[in-house]
Amino acid sequence: MPALKDTLDRPLRDLRISVTDRCNFRCPYCMPAEIYGERYQFLPRDQLLTFEETARLARVFVKLGVTKLRLTGGEPLVRADVEQLVAMLAALGKNPEGHALDITLTTNGYLLEQKAQALKDAGLQRITVSLDSLRPDVFARLNGRNFTPERVLAGIRKAQQVGLTPIKLNCVAVRGVNDEDIVDLARFARDNGCIMRFIEYMDVGNLNHWKMDQVVPAREIVERITAVFPLEPAEPNYKGEVAERWRYRDGASELGVIASVTQPFCRDCTRARLTTDGKLVTCLFASTGADLRGPMRSGASDDDLEAIIRQVWTVRTDRYSELRTAMTPATRKKIEMFQIGG
Ligand code: GTP
Ligand code: 5AD
Ligand code: SF4
Ligand code: SF4
Repeated sequence: MPALKDTLDRPLRDLRISVTDRCNFRCPYCMPAEIYGERYQFLPRDQLLTFEETARLARVFVKLGVTKLRLTGGEPLVRADVEQLVAMLAALGKNPEGHALDITLTTNGYLLEQKAQALKDAGLQRITVSLDSLRPDVFARLNGRNFTPERVLAGIRKAQQVGLTPIKLNCVAVRGVNDEDIVDLARFARDNGCIMRFIEYMDVGNLNHWKMDQVVPAREIVERITAVFPLEPAEPNYKGEVAERWRYRDGASELGVIASVTQPFCRDCTRARLTTDGKLVTCLFASTGADLRGPMRSGASDDDLEAIIRQVWTVRTDRYSELRTAMTPATRKKIEMFQIGG
């Protein structure tokens, strides 16, 4: 069977699985609190894929060449017993080309201290934790819930103790909000053996009132850090890696910048996303996705599901970030980030 490629010759390698659309944070760049208040209607339970359905789909994706599975949300740790899903995914083993599966999860860290051991025991290999600031007031502003960073920091420590490593820390840099925190975050990650990554603020979704002047370009981030801790470029770990890697010249560790606005990386984008309700989405900026839950619940076989995924991927043309400047965001409805987990 020839390798599955899209119209731009990109294989399907990563599957990002959103296990819930709920979140215990209200980051203004993702789920602004004034819109996603207490009465916001998240998906009813019967619309969520069960763990069995998710694992079944993951098995089909793995057969088609996927080697990395990332659990996201919303906030994946608010989904009850999510470690059971991790165990089911870990049991998938290798893909047909013999590549071991990379199984990971992106979390805001709030529930990590209590969940880390169970996740590790279930077979999770490593973890990525969002950390936008170490300053309590800025951190509170960026989680929209007045939480201070202590619990997240305790979660990071616990993840380290149980060996969910390497730990990556993600910060969305927003001009005028947390750009003064960049060097402190880099220092914190260096001192604690974590890999800090700075993400350019993106125009995902429709509700965060994104403006280009709020983006802190990756170049500027690297310059600010290198003025304090000299950096040198490092080679990518693999083709299509989202983060551009930089190494500290003193050998301390490395960091990454994710320049999806100023240096888009669609050319090598091998990512598919599975929404909480079972839609296959081929771009972070898509308006919709192909339903897999419906066919599955009406008795589709694994071969039928494989055929749908093949069909969707074969005609894929997405490269939103490369085209962004030519689009008018206000006229194009996009899926919200918390529905597909970034
Ligand atoms: P590794 O497996 O550790 O290399 O992780 P990763 O960098 O692929 O995944 P992570 O979830 O940490 O991604 C970090 C951030 O990069 C996400 O939260 C998004 O903001 C952004 N990002 C990831 N994938 C894409 C993508 O396909 N397109 C765009 N535009 N941004 C992405
Ligand atoms: N721009 C860039 N990254 C974002 N994330 C959420 N919304 C945005 C945005 N507008 C990131 C979070 C987290 C991951 C789930 O997605 O920081 O790391
Ligand atoms: Fe929740 Fe993550 Fe969105 Fe923040 S970015 S609101 S933590 S899903
Ligand atoms: Fe991939 Fe779409 Fe992101 Fe481009 S904008 S890298 S095609 S997910």
